[in-house]
Amino acid sequence: MTAPNPVKALFDGVAERYDNPHMRYFPAAAARLVQHLAPRPGDRILDVATGTGHVALAAARAVQPDGCVQAIDLSPRMLDRAFINLQRAGLSNVDLHEMDAAQLAFAGGAFDALTCSFGLFFLPDMRTALREWRRVLRPGGRLLLTSFTHNAFMPLAARFLDRLAAFGVDTHEERWRRLAEPAECEDLLQTAGFTDVQITTEQLGFHLDGPEEWWAIVQSSGYRGLLDALDEDARTPFREQHQAELRVLETDQGLWLNVETLFIAARRPAD
Ligand SMILES: C[S@@+](CC[C@H](N)C(=O)[O-])C[C@H]1O[C@@H](n2cnc3c(N)ncnc32)[C@H](O)[C@@H]1O
Repeated sequence: MTAPNPVKALFDGVAERYDNPHMRYFPAAAARLVQHLAPRPGDRILDVATGTGHVALAAARAVQPDGCVQAIDLSPRMLDRAFINLQRAGLSNVDLHEMDAAQLAFAGGAFDALTCSFGLFFLPDMRTALREWRRVLRPGGRLLLTSFTHNAFMPLAARFLDRLAAFGVDTHEERWRRLAEPAECEDLLQTAGFTDVQITTEQLGFHLDGPEEWWAIVQSSGYRGLLDALDEDARTPFREQHQAELRVLETDQGLWLNVETLFIAARRPAD
């Protein structure tokens, strides 16, 4: 029997809560990603790790009426939410597939562009996955990725992880830190066979109303897995202590949520 995939289980678990106003940086990043890509009507786009479909929806609007988007994700529950979002938007040019980003069931050269917002860093072997993504792009086809920088969610995330560690939870570095350094991203893309790498940093942050809103984020995001590792009777004291330490960071405007984001563009070389 194959072991359950922890990333799939994590996102199946948060899918119902993923689309919420506290995490509005995800749709905001998706909109900016599609602006950077500037797809044309008629383009064929593959959105990898589509989640609830933020990029797929924005891209589908940009390529209609003749263009289409194939959108894949590991998590069936995230795809269920994407399906609802597509229906609500009245879009019929998106196909959803439950598929592993490391092994794409698409023909070589099938796409004009491949997008992946906050997804690549979940893959155990990012370079091998990127080579697979390059395979399905046509020569000259474009890649557009996002990731967070090392500043993202700081200092809130550091306080969260330190307090979890104080409660005996075995914390690990956030996965996006594998794709947080522009120079390393450029090297990764070039060694995977991409060219014309361009990386820009944009601040998508905003003020939260207070620690309660941060708490809603950790419960609905990739941090959820760490919270679940707390013993049942430790959850209330953890929450109280963590919220108290965040209260001292509040200003008149609220609690600043830094969402510094990398937009990473590249191209499959023309043959
Ligand atoms: C942080 S969410 C981002 C979702 C969406 N792109 C967005 O910007 O809102 C990461 C997504 O990556 C998906 N994912 C992680 N590993 C994957 C893999 N190996 N293959 C396909 N999807 C994967 C998860 O299921 C999850 O939906």
